[in-house]
Amino acid sequence: MSESKRPLAGKVTIVTGSTRGIGRAIAQRLGREGAAVVVTYATNVDLAREVVQAIQQAGSEALALQMDLREIATIRHLFARTLNHFGKVDILVNNASGLATLKPTAKLTQAEYDSMFDLTRGVYFALQEAARHIADNGRIVSLSTAMTATGSPTSGAYVGSKAAIEQFSIALARELGWRGVTVNVVSPGVTVVNGNTHHQIASGRPLDASSLPQDEQEKRRLYQERMEQIRAATPLGRLGTPEDIANVVSLLVSAEAGWLTGQNIRAAGGIV
Ligand SMILES: NC(=O)c1ccc[n+]([C@@H]2O[C@H](COP(=O)([O-])OP(=O)(O)OC[C@H]3O[C@@H](n4cnc5c(N)ncnc54)[C@H](OP(=O)(O)O)[C@@H]3O)[C@@H](O)[C@H]2O)c1
Repeated sequence: MSESKRPLAGKVTIVTGSTRGIGRAIAQRLGREGAAVVVTYATNVDLAREVVQAIQQAGSEALALQMDLREIATIRHLFARTLNHFGKVDILVNNASGLATLKPTAKLTQAEYDSMFDLTRGVYFALQEAARHIADNGRIVSLSTAMTATGSPTSGAYVGSKAAIEQFSIALARELGWRGVTVNVVSPGVTVVNGNTHHQIASGRPLDASSLPQDEQEKRRLYQERMEQIRAATPLGRLGTPEDIANVVSLLVSAEAGWLTGQNIRAAGGIV
């Protein structure tokens, strides 16, 4: 990529949860655009190193750091290490997330509820670190889900945990605007991520649920049916890819997006 196509040269970016899926596509995209990228992982250090290598091969600096959203100290450490290494933070992409537990409201346990909201608390404290340290004219983008607009049975706690992030972002946009910092949300629709159920559905392969207990099989069958319905109902006729989402994040972190703040971009092929 020529210098003119490296609009993020000189910018320092943290992309949380960038070992795989959407976060990996975002980290690699922003790296190709010239940004120095901090790749974070919860457990998959080898995948994080792979992403770092890919970004370095594309000509940008990159660093892998461990961070667990459930441990606020690790979030503070992430920012401290980034500032220590690169001297500043220009862009934060709050992408990291754990497994969503989709269960009827009557059946969700307190532990399952807490496991999702513990991650949301981590996003809040990542935003707090950004509020304290992000450079003037910086960019903050957090990932929510299009389901906060579409609604879906069994998703109440998960969607609630993401909806909170949308509200954190609206408030922060109003707090940081005077410094030229923009704060936005990207809400993906169903996005095909290698190795997950969405991928198996989108590529047309049947799910191998034979070793699962009966109720688990039934749950998966219903899930697959639901995904097919979503694909059929999507005006653009397919499920999303990580690159679709990275394209939108790339737009929001660009210099040209300086007049867009407090927005929630629903990157979902028109389903919302
Ligand atoms: N995929 C979709 O259909 C979809 C739809 C709507 C919204 N989203 C949102 O888009 C974002 C990315 O989704 P994805 O499907 O690409 O995710 P993913 O493939 O499951 O990847 C999750 C990433 O988060 C990291 N992570 C997991 N637990 C963590 C924790 N406790 N603390 C810090 N990092 C943690 C993982 O690191 P390790 O590899 O080290 O575990 C990994 O890098 C999420 O915010 C998700 O809610 C996704």
